[in-house]
Amino acid sequence: ASLQEVGYTIRPLRKSDYSAGYLDCLRVLTTVGEPSEAAFNERYEFMASRNDTYYILVICDSKSKVVGTGAAIVERKFIHNMGLVGHIEDIAVDKNQQGKKLGLRIIQALDYLAAKVGCYKCILDCSEANEGFYVKCGFKRAGLEMAHYY
Ligand code: ACO
Repeated sequence: ASLQEVGYTIRPLRKSDYSAGYLDCLRVLTTVGEPSEAAFNERYEFMASRNDTYYILVICDSKSKVVGTGAAIVERKFIHNMGLVGHIEDIAVDKNQQGKKLGLRIIQALDYLAAKVGCYKCILDCSEANEGFYVKCGFKRAGLEMAHYY
């Protein structure tokens, strides 16, 4: 059955999702903090004004609560003939909604989007614990992440 058939909707993030559980959904992923609605709106506007770069999707349940999310950021390069690279970021599915293929649907949608806007590849960083999920989504291990925290 499609997402819609079982009562879910997938769509771009909206400003009103601040009050629809968007930030709570992200809490399964990492620390979010308690940003004010004004701070959220300011960041949202920044991204919305660059809507050829930031693609944020949400999945809502039948009560319009955000239960899943993911983002693709399109990086513009000089190499690879002015190539575009998609970066998959901040994939999160509510604890009580995990295992229903919502994560897979989010990745499929972001991957489709990235290819459609002309990216030659999509990349992401994840923990070893999530490798199996991304393999099921069609990704394969490539490279090694390095980080310098401030
Ligand atoms: N290891 C191995 N296989 C997995 C895992 C895992 N950790 N998670 C899911 N799978 C499998 C499922 O069993 C399913 O397999 P099947 O098709 O054979 O049944 C397939 O992958 C698809 O799984 P979904 O049901 O779509 O996964 P879900 O909706 O639960 O979403 C996710 C997976 C996003 C990792 C979710 O568990 C989650 O939000 N976790 C906490 C936050 C997190 O770790 N996010 C990813 C961070 S990395 C990043 O953002 C780039």
